[in-house]
Parts: sequence; C-alpha cells; structure tokens
Amino acid sequence: MGLPGLTPVHFFSHGSTRMLEAETESGNYWAKCGQEALAHNVKGIVMMGAHWACLGDKIEVATNPNPGKSPCPYVTPSLYLDWKPNPDLATAERCISMLKADGFNVGPNPNFDWIHDTFLILIKMFPDFSKCPPVTIVSMNARFDPHYHVKVGATLRPLRKEGYLLIGTGGAVHNLYRNAWTDMILYRESLGQERPPEAWALEFRQATEDVVTRNRGPDLRKAMIRLMQHPAYRQAQATDDHFMPAMFAAGAAGDLEDRAHANVLAAETWELINMCNSQFTFGSYQASADTSRKMLAKPHKVASPAIAVAASA
Ligand SMILES: [Fe+2]
Repeated sequence: MGLPGLTPVHFFSHGSTRMLEAETESGNYWAKCGQEALAHNVKGIVMMGAHWACLGDKIEVATNPNPGKSPCPYVTPSLYLDWKPNPDLATAERCISMLKADGFNVGPNPNFDWIHDTFLILIKMFPDFSKCPPVTIVSMNARFDPHYHVKVGATLRPLRKEGYLLIGTGGAVHNLYRNAWTDMILYRESLGQERPPEAWALEFRQATEDVVTRNRGPDLRKAMIRLMQHPAYRQAQATDDHFMPAMFAAGAAGDLEDRAHANVLAAETWELINMCNSQFTFGSYQASADTSRKMLAKPHKVASPAIAVAASA
C-alpha cells in the first residue's frame, strides 16, 4: 500500500506509568493504531507530549541523535530500558523551519531525553522498536496558551499529507492531586476502581467526548479551546500541561478540509478512581482517501473569521 492521502491525528491520554505494563483497552487501541500506521507506510511520527515545556515565548524540537529515557517508575524496568528510540533529525529540522516560517520562536534541543509521555505510547504502538517509524518530538510552551498550541498543530498539519502521523499525548481528565494513589504505591495497581469517579471527573470526561465527537474542522479547534472554560476544567486538570497536546491535535485536525472527517472516542481506561484516559482519533486513513476524491469534486468555500484569529495568536 502507498502513502495515505491524509493521515488521522490522535489525542492519546497516557495516564499513569502503569499503562505501560497493564493490559488495558487503551493499550490495545494504541497497539491497533501502531499496526494501522505500519500498514499505511507512515513516514514518521510527530508528537507533542505533556512533560516538556519551554519558558518565555519559546518552543523547541528534540534533535538528540541518541536520546536516553527518563525513569518510568512503578513498572518492570526492562519494559522500557530495552526499547531503543528512533529519533528523526531530518524531520526535526523540517519542523523547526515550518514553525519559524509561521512566526514561532523555535530552536533545536540536542540534549533532550525522552519521557514516558511519549515512549510509553510508542512502546505500546510498536513493541518491536526496530519497526517504530522515525519520531520527532515537539515541546510545549509553558505559558500554556491554547491558541498558541492550536497554531503549532495547524502549522505542522501539512505533514499529514506527506504521510506523517501527528499525535498529542496528554490526558482528558488528569489531575494528579485528585487521584487515589494508595493502590499504586502499595501494590503497583492502578485499575481497581473500588469506588466510582467523582462527579466533576465524569462531567468533564463527558464534555470532552461531546466536544470531540460533535465538532469537526475549525469548530473542533474552537470547542476544544472553550473546554478550558468549562466549570469542571480546573478540577479535571490541576495544571494545563496535559491538556495542551489536545490543542495541538485539534490544530492539526481542525482545518476546513477536516470537516468531512468524523472524530471518535475509540477507547477509554479509568485509573486511580478519578483519572480518565480517553483515546481520541480525528479522521481515519480510509476516510481521508474517500474525502480527497470528494474534495476534488466539490471544494469547501467558507472561511471562519474566528479561526483566523485563533490561528494567528
Ligand atoms: Fe503525564
């Protein structure tokens, strides 16, 4: 099979480090996405994680040719120590050029070591590291401006047409201060759910599903940004770092051209009572091929002024 016409975009909620070792619905979905990526000859993977942010107005792209991996506690070490990263230095330079051309203060980081927000997902997607496509990791900006991160995704979106898979990895409901950690600390167990999640967690989990599945294209970008004003947002996200990769994903999948593509909640895993690891996919390989043909026959015509503002912030 040749390159896809337009790759999908994923927003994965990586959850706790236990998600690397535990058998979960989410882990099975990550593995399925990895198999699909290989079946469609994905050229490379461009990721924004939730554990790397730059100060001031800067962002960076990882250019370490031999990155190490930071410790991943509460799991059997061989699960990640034996898995070798496959960094994509050429695409990193390309991303820097694209971001620079769009006005970002961006530079390389030749010393960055990978963190479990990215390698946990990649190990589940590609258990055999020799099959993992080349990977580029883009940082967040620590001001956590949602418009800024939507624009990062929008800027890198053209890479989807070249066969790159764009992934944001963060968390849909991810407040470490509100998790119940006892079972994980004592027993390395995070999936017990011996009591129901609290109301704010259920409410924000539902709001996120509704936003993703009921909005497409530029509407998706606007609705995702609006989620940060949801009454339960601050309970669901104690800090903004795990929600910015969702903005990146919405930016990458929120063009007018993306209006024809369905966005789905594909899998979900609750951990530590109140953490909801929702796995979202925007578009699909098949849908993109179908849509490309339709788009040629009948181009879209409306530009959204609101999104023009968002995209230039
Ligand atoms: Fe995390």
